Order: sequence, then C-alpha cells, then structure tokens
Amino acid sequence: MTVRRDSLTRYLVEKQRVDGRIPPQLRLLLEVVARACKRISFAVNKGELGEVMGSAGSENIQGEVQKKLDIIANETLIEANEWGGHLAAMASEEMEGIYVVPNRYPQGEYLLMFDPLDGSSNIDVNVSIGTIFSVLKKPEGHPGIHDSDFLQPGTQQVAAGYCIYGPQTTLVLTVGDGVSMFTLDREQGSFILTQDNVKVPEDTKEFAINMSNMRHWDAPVKRYIDECLQGTEGPRGKDFNMRWIASMVSDVHRILTRGGIFMYPWDKREPHKPGKLRLMYEANPMGWLIEQAGGMATNGRQRILEIEPTQLHERVSVILGSKNEVQRVTDYHLEADRACAQA
Ligand code: AHG
Ligand code: MN
Ligand code: MN
Repeated sequence: MTVRRDSLTRYLVEKQRVDGRIPPQLRLLLEVVARACKRISFAVNKGELGEVMGSAGSENIQGEVQKKLDIIANETLIEANEWGGHLAAMASEEMEGIYVVPNRYPQGEYLLMFDPLDGSSNIDVNVSIGTIFSVLKKPEGHPGIHDSDFLQPGTQQVAAGYCIYGPQTTLVLTVGDGVSMFTLDREQGSFILTQDNVKVPEDTKEFAINMSNMRHWDAPVKRYIDECLQGTEGPRGKDFNMRWIASMVSDVHRILTRGGIFMYPWDKREPHKPGKLRLMYEANPMGWLIEQAGGMATNGRQRILEIEPTQLHERVSVILGSKNEVQRVTDYHLEADRACAQA
C-alpha cells in the first residue's frame, strides 16, 4: 500500500476550509511565496550554468556586499507577489525601504517580509542556503501604508517559514498550529507534505555558534560554552558536539530535525549593535517556528517574539532551539544582570 502524501496546495486548502485557520487571501499568499521559492530553488541549482554565482558588485542598506543571487531572489519574490491582490507591501533585507504594491494592482491586507537569500557566503561554495519569510496583517485604522505598519512584535505573525535549498529543497511552514515540512518534488513541480507536527527535543548535546568570535562574547555566553566544552568532566556531565553552517536556515533546519541550540549573541566587536541577525525577517520567523515546535527563542533576556521593533532593519541577539538549553543560557544572562545590579 502506498502512503497518501498531501501537496502543499491541499494542506493549505484544508487549513482554510476544514480548520478555518487561514483566510483565502493568506492561502493565496503562501502559495505564491512557495512558487517564488521554487523558482529560486531552480536558479540555485543551475549554479555556474545559470550565471547566478558571484558578487553583484553592490552593497545593501546594511553595508553587506550583495551576491547576484541575493538580488535574483529578491526580485523573484517581489515579481511573484506584487500582482496577486493579497499584499499591501513587502520589506526585505535587500531593500532600504518598504515596497508598496503598485497602484496598477489591487492592494490586499497582508504585509510580507523576507530575507530572500540567507547564508549568502555559502552560495559560491555549494553549501545549503535558504529564503526566510514572515507575514503580518496591515494594521487597520489609517489610510496608506508606512514603514511603521511593519513594526509589530513577532507575536503578531500570521504565518512564517523558510525554504532551504540543500540536497533537497524543503519548505517549512507555520500558521500558528505547529510546524510542517514540504519537500519539493522536482518532477511534479510541487511541494509535498513530508513531515507534520515537527517537534524539537527539549534537551540536546549539540550547539551552534561561531567560535571564532569567542574572545568578543559576553560572560554568560562564555560560561555556557565553557561548560559544554568541559564535557563529561565538567558541570554538564556530558560531551557536546558542535556545528556551524553559517546559514541560519541550515542551522535551524538541523535543530528542527534533531534538536540543538543556535546562538548568534551580541558581542563586543560592534557594541552599539544589539546583534548581527535581523529581528523582522530572521529572528521573528525562526523564533516562532522554533516555539511552534516546542522550543524556545530569546535574546538572552527576553522572548524574541515579544520585542517591540523600532526599525525595519533592527538587529537582535539570538538564542534559540531546544528548550532546556535556551532556558539555561537565558538564566545565565539574568543571573549576571542581577549580580551586576547588586554590585
Ligand atoms: P545573510 O546571508 O542573509 O546575510 O545571513 C547570514 C547570517 C546567518 O544566516 C548566519 O547564521 C550568519 O549570518 C553567519 O554569520 P558569520 O559569517 O558571522 O558566522
Ligand atoms: Mn540571513
Ligand atoms: Mn540574506
């Protein structure tokens, strides 16, 4: 007997019709995002044959060198999404301001944010990369659309996910009732549900952090990693393994699959910046996915999803993954704060 496997389309139709969880416009939006990700996946796969490798010779608003694929992925997401009538505006890591749906198309009630190509440094070395997205509703009560409409905490997200372009292309999605994974069937051209109700184990023996920044870390992060490195002889009484892929999508995908803790904490290299990763289109969608899978996501002190954003490209310290480990690192930060306040 063959197992019936649902397509993403059927999954979304059932979320709309049977569960009443998503309105038709949100269903359409998610279909369109998936279609754009499919196109990006094909472009990524072409590699050197598709003239998609290398630098574009430009910089984004954050002063990062743009790769050709950063720009291709950004344009693909905009072109796919601007005409369907489901969106009011988009915001992206690769664009300084918001992109309002042009007047020639109907305006919908949703806002889409994305990191079109996450893990850019991995493009040219043929290592997994991805697209991250987050969907909000446009606030009601005032005409027009402004940057400030996007400045909503992560708790307000109505859908979030990522697509990983690796040995397989997999779309990972939440609409607030758990996490599901869909593998791209390249022959059929559709995403097929391959894992439902994804759960992150509460405990782990695997951490992900860029160790080359160790000398710049804050004391609580140092303490946590030091204890992990002491292995069976240390206070944790067990050996830890380390992984760092340098694309958040890939590290989060591993954590959703087998557990782990991911950290990109604030450090002393650029002390005025709260972190490297971006709140609106990296930390919030990934934080929500991890929470929906039973994990935890904080900035060391506060739940990421409750942070009130003040700007579109805001950065944040990120600690997410297996619940008990994230709780431990967060406790170390809070303990250090208390000791500091008493001193
Ligand atoms: P992006 O390619 O969208 O700029 O994001 C890269 C991010 C994230 O995906 C990854 O975890 C981190 O940067 C890697 O940073 P380091 O190179 O400093 O390790
Ligand atoms: Mn990124
Ligand atoms: Mn990016």
